[in-house]
Amino acid sequence: MKYVWLDVDPGHDDATAIMLAVNSPNIQLLGVSTTHGNASSDWTAINAARCLVAFGAPSKILVHPGATEPLLLPAKHDPEIHGEDGLGGVEGLPAGDDSNVVARFAKDADGFNVHALDGMSRSIKETWRNGSGPRVTIISTGPMTNIALFISVYPKLLGAVEEFVFMGGGVGMGNRSSVAEYNILCDPHAAQIVLNVPVKKTMIPINVTHTAIVTREIHTQLLSPGSESSLGVLPAASSNLRHTLSTLISYFAESYKSTFGFQEGPPLHDALTVAYVAYPELFRTTRHRVDIELTGAHSIGETVVDVWKYKSCDDTWGRNGRNCVVADALNVQGFFDIFLEAVARCDAM
Ligand code: BDR
Ligand code: CA
Repeated sequence: MKYVWLDVDPGHDDATAIMLAVNSPNIQLLGVSTTHGNASSDWTAINAARCLVAFGAPSKILVHPGATEPLLLPAKHDPEIHGEDGLGGVEGLPAGDDSNVVARFAKDADGFNVHALDGMSRSIKETWRNGSGPRVTIISTGPMTNIALFISVYPKLLGAVEEFVFMGGGVGMGNRSSVAEYNILCDPHAAQIVLNVPVKKTMIPINVTHTAIVTREIHTQLLSPGSESSLGVLPAASSNLRHTLSTLISYFAESYKSTFGFQEGPPLHDALTVAYVAYPELFRTTRHRVDIELTGAHSIGETVVDVWKYKSCDDTWGRNGRNCVVADALNVQGFFDIFLEAVARCDAM
């Protein structure tokens, strides 16, 4: 069993990561924190709560809103890809003022939202119990501002962290500049803090997430398991949940077609972090030295991956070490099998 804290900026593919985390048998989700990113921090927090309700998370799994801005740079959002509210075009989710959604926010005794850092630290302490309990895996699917702040504020809790797993970066490629991937570009300084921490890290870069494409065949199976895929209209959704996920995929597909020219379907970037934690055997990985470009006029936010081992590094996870496991390849069929199984589990609830 993996004990997981999830930090997200929903976001269409973040929503699929939440669905997978809630419905994977070998993951115990402890809580969720949210960050600025695909949309404003107000929207991402509401969206995370909407997703937890829609995807059947137990009522004790709560949302903890976190960073509203990056450490140094101004916040940027991505309405071109995700719509103004972060979940553009998604039908069937409960509204932000639905009582079940409102009840998903962790509150303190005075009725204020519990901040991401407070929620994470409390949950990790309660789980780890000073070493008599399990360590916690922290998954990040957005800009890593909350994670960097957690590291700075709670260095004594790093021993309780099994691993940081993040979707972000690219090996020699970017998607929101020629060389920078969106999550890293939004807060490159935070990402560099995380990369230097002496704890295991795994990066799921766009080189790999771009292989997890929701093709028409997979979209057909998502809507109606066992249906034949055809080039004509998609089959009707066999449940409300499947309709919701289908509208999510359709909107994301259009964004990826119009912005990046993806013809086959959208990539489920963020869900791969959860898949990696639950089913690491689906991935091939290599450990490298990874740094973030923080000053380049053309390359700020680039993940500089030392694939040729130019730097002399030790075997630690920190400042001088080969600090990060980088995913190289995914068993794509295996991933969509476990993804569709999670949808079926969620649907049966
Ligand atoms: C990342 O950026 C966002 O658009 C997605 O949610 C994902 O986390 C992909 O570059
Ligand atoms: Ca994201």
